[in-house]
Amino acid sequence: MSRIDIHELVKQWGEVSAVDKVSFTVPEGSLTVLLGPSGCGKSTILRLIAGLEAITAGSISIGGKDITHLDPAQRGVSMVFQSYALFPHLTVRENILFGLKVRSVAKEDRRARLEEAARMVGLTDLLSRKPAQLSGGQRQRVALARSIVSRRPVCLMDEPLSNLDAKLRAEMRDEIRSLQQKLGLTMVYVTHDQVEAMTMADQVVLLQQGRVEQIGRPHELYEHPRTIFAATFLGSPAMNLLKIDLIAERTALAAACGGSLPAACPSQGYIGVRPEDVRVGDEGLPVKISAVDYLGAETVVRMIHDGQPVFAKIDGRRDYTPGATVHINWPEKAVHCFGSDGICVDGPAP
Ligand SMILES: Nc1ncnc2c1ncn2[C@@H]1O[C@H](COP(=O)(O)OP(=O)(O)OP(=O)(O)O)[C@@H](O)[C@H]1O
Ligand SMILES: [Mg+2]
Repeated sequence: MSRIDIHELVKQWGEVSAVDKVSFTVPEGSLTVLLGPSGCGKSTILRLIAGLEAITAGSISIGGKDITHLDPAQRGVSMVFQSYALFPHLTVRENILFGLKVRSVAKEDRRARLEEAARMVGLTDLLSRKPAQLSGGQRQRVALARSIVSRRPVCLMDEPLSNLDAKLRAEMRDEIRSLQQKLGLTMVYVTHDQVEAMTMADQVVLLQQGRVEQIGRPHELYEHPRTIFAATFLGSPAMNLLKIDLIAERTALAAACGGSLPAACPSQGYIGVRPEDVRVGDEGLPVKISAVDYLGAETVVRMIHDGQPVFAKIDGRRDYTPGATVHINWPEKAVHCFGSDGICVDGPAP
């Protein structure tokens, strides 16, 4: 029983609301990613769940039990930080077992848990080293092992991979996800990295300025963003946005959208199209190519229409000439429409 229910959570620092009426549920044994730009309140929410900060209003329950005012030690959660938080003077073994010793877990039990956790994260041969003798990835494994041996059903992670290089990050991402599934952990994972969110999460809670912007499975957020913020936060390059009333060539715009603008598109709003849906050819909206970025597996063509930037992401290598005029179009079903308030009025059908 480790489902987490967060209800109308508020945290104020003086006048500032770091967390503003946030509600979401993490089903037992699943992984929820808190995603959003720096300062949006991700770490604060995690620290409130762990009990490291006092809440201003709202409630938190775990497994149906209200833990809002419970001591951190009584909440049944373990936490992994970006900084690893290892004791430099203790060995890997001592670091992993530290919490169990404090909790007076029997020696035999400690040894068994240590062996199991060390094997799981590949630290068996490094147990006698000190943190300074480890690489960043190995240190993060120690922090993970410490969380595993605690056998707590809820695990909170705050940007645990942000100090690692790209290759190691990808490996550790997979390891954490498979450990979470193997151990059936209920996990809340904080990141501002959309790739981590897309690849690891059962559910993503997208936050902006202390508020929930959208909650859903990764593909739901990507395919059906409810706001311009959500549409442009996920995806690289970000979704193209064309301000409809700035486009003089209405016929060309309609042609680019497959014949006509979706009926729901407001005259003052925006059209959103993902770069991978933009086709470069002879029909549609005329654009001027400003740059071509060859990335190996794909080419990003940067273009301008009436001062508005448009990006196309095309498979393979393409030799377009900067300065040339081409035309762009996209399938009708790729069009997202947003009002001038930034709210989606008619996305592709779910
Ligand atoms: N102890 C504090 N006192 C005052 N304000 C704070 C405190 N801790 C955080 N804040 C403010 O609360 C807001 C949310 O901070 P938080 O650390 O939760 O953001 P975050 O989403 O984790 O950002 P990052 O991605 O940079 O880690 C920020 O505006 C921050 O300045
Ligand atoms: Mg943070």
